[in-house]
Amino acid sequence: MDKQPNDSFFIIEGFKLKIPTEVYKPSDDTYLLIDNLHVKKGEKVLEMGCGCGIVTLIAAKKAGKVVAVDLNPYAVQTTKENVKLNGLEGKVEVRIGNLFQPLNSNEKFDLIIFNPPYLPTSKGDKVGGWLEKAWDGGPNGRKIIDRFIDEVEKFLNKKGRILMVQSTLSNVEKTIQRLTEKRFKVKILGRKNFSFETLICFEALKI
Ligand SMILES: C[S@@+](CC[C@H](N)C(=O)[O-])C[C@H]1O[C@@H](n2cnc3c(N)ncnc32)[C@H](O)[C@@H]1O
Repeated sequence: MDKQPNDSFFIIEGFKLKIPTEVYKPSDDTYLLIDNLHVKKGEKVLEMGCGCGIVTLIAAKKAGKVVAVDLNPYAVQTTKENVKLNGLEGKVEVRIGNLFQPLNSNEKFDLIIFNPPYLPTSKGDKVGGWLEKAWDGGPNGRKIIDRFIDEVEKFLNKKGRILMVQSTLSNVEKTIQRLTEKRFKVKILGRKNFSFETLICFEALKI
């Protein structure tokens, strides 16, 4: 793999990772998700918004198959390269697209993972570029989260589950309420407190 001037290389959780500046660098939310990620042997997993691919790589250790999706072309390319770098090509498929658009309507998963863009962002906050897609949750932080909740059920196997992380800045109660209305049982798995927000990791089980 060629090293580009803007690439940085990291070892995270034992995986070698190339992370260019246009791609989200694993952060507190990523690590909270990873700490609560439990994949059963052979499961079929979808990671929505894969970024550099670290969560996908960890999931792929046990999963039968992982499909990783991102709308940022740099994230898709980076995940593909990182999958190859760590020898997991046989288990991971990386696709480009907006949320569930790159999936066939009959594709189903045991586990769907998402660390979504969740920061409330007004017009004045916008800086543009692909990296902004990693945190831009629209005016109330829920632009992508609500679209995800609208569609996610169709892509889950019976008794499938969702693993998600979100900030209190974008109304976690509303997410839990919406999932509960859709007959998911939501369980909080972990929290990380900061001065201006708390990050919450939760699982939603289809009942
Ligand atoms: C907070 S980052 C998380 C990256 C990585 N999963 C992690 O935990 O480090 C959110 C990711 O979602 C992607 N994303 C944002 N909106 C999306 C959409 N509508 N469809 C697919 N991916 C999206 C972003 O490009 C970004 O890579």
